[in-house]
Amino acid sequence: MDLRGGERGKKSEPEQFLKMPANYYLFTGAAGYVGSHVLRFFIERGEHCVVLDNLSKGHREAVPEKTPFFQADISDTDQLAHIFNTYPVSGILHFAGYIEVGESVKDPGKYFENNVSRAVPFLEAVRKFQIPWVLFSSSAAVYGEPEKIPILENDSLKPTSPYGLTKLMMENMLQVYEKSFGIRSVCLRYFNAAGACPSGGLGESHTPESHLIPRACKAAINGVPFLSIYGTDYQTPDGTCIRDYVHIWDLAEAHYLSAKALDRGMNSTVYNIGSEKGYSVKEVLKTLEVISNRKIPIQIEERRAGDPAVLVASSKRIRQELGWDPKYQSLEKILVSAYQWHETHPDGFAKSLKNH
Ligand SMILES: NC(=O)c1ccc[n+]([C@@H]2O[C@H](COP(=O)([O-])OP(=O)(O)OC[C@H]3O[C@@H](n4cnc5c(N)ncnc54)[C@H](O)[C@@H]3O)[C@@H](O)[C@H]2O)c1
Repeated sequence: MDLRGGERGKKSEPEQFLKMPANYYLFTGAAGYVGSHVLRFFIERGEHCVVLDNLSKGHREAVPEKTPFFQADISDTDQLAHIFNTYPVSGILHFAGYIEVGESVKDPGKYFENNVSRAVPFLEAVRKFQIPWVLFSSSAAVYGEPEKIPILENDSLKPTSPYGLTKLMMENMLQVYEKSFGIRSVCLRYFNAAGACPSGGLGESHTPESHLIPRACKAAINGVPFLSIYGTDYQTPDGTCIRDYVHIWDLAEAHYLSAKALDRGMNSTVYNIGSEKGYSVKEVLKTLEVISNRKIPIQIEERRAGDPAVLVASSKRIRQELGWDPKYQSLEKILVSAYQWHETHPDGFAKSLKNH
């Protein structure tokens, strides 16, 4: 079904082609948290984008109405063929996938099916239509329990969760498609993406929400009885897990720089995307209590399967090679922007639409 802009395109094909820009980027999964922010970043810079998302998780409202939108699965080769035949796609930003580490431990098949099996027909369509490159949302989860901190891109890859394994499998599949068919790729291994669009109207809205910062913001705002934190017996100064938080707008810039480098013919590579600083769960909560001026009551639960104690990136490679220069680095900036989004959008996208 063609759901472009919410309805079938009204213009005749020839008129549409006369006005067709020279190149488009295809965004998969851009109705979700990361993809919708990166999409906004690209649109603000005048880029032409087309979106495919099956809306299994994301929000139609997170994609501007004017952006061509196809509600379809990444494995829907008819719809992909239609997109590639209609828009001159010069590169793909591939965000679509399931993201819950805990769920992937309980139901690994769901993750192998969605994140890997469905990616096979997708990559076949990419090959068939000779799309030059794919920019893939990978994850720090590919490293598993790191041997040293900070983590470098060539450190060992031993995912401890099925989710992390699906990300690594996809990275490997992309390497194979480059060797066999010359499709170049950049895999961005995000550490913890957090925060909201600086100009408003977009933020993090997952269901269920398993990420600490949005859960903590909701706990502060809605005054839920307590916030569960998972494990206080890790080998860290305060016993809670340490994570590297990267602001969503800095993450968006990393995509933009990577896409432009791929357009210039850059070879395939992998980049860590993190702030290079680690904060414990308790540090995040304390800082948020100061920002919100509210107490966040916690309940201590068992460790979650597949959660390493410390994950902190070295992002030197992308800084040196592409000049990535994150501007929203501090934990305070990340928390203030996340808190503002949740305060103004207590129901996520449910009741706060039409503002972009
Ligand atoms: N959020 C983070 O901190 C983080 C960290 C590391 C990696 N990542 C990766 O970044 C990507 C985006 O994450 P997010 O937080 O925006 O997740 P999200 O759930 O908000 O967005 C994912 C989007 O993909 C869509 N989707 C899922 N399966 C699909 C399919 N088979 N076909 C078409 N659309 C499909 C969903 O509807 C949703 O809109 C994911 O691949 C995730 O693994 C995210």
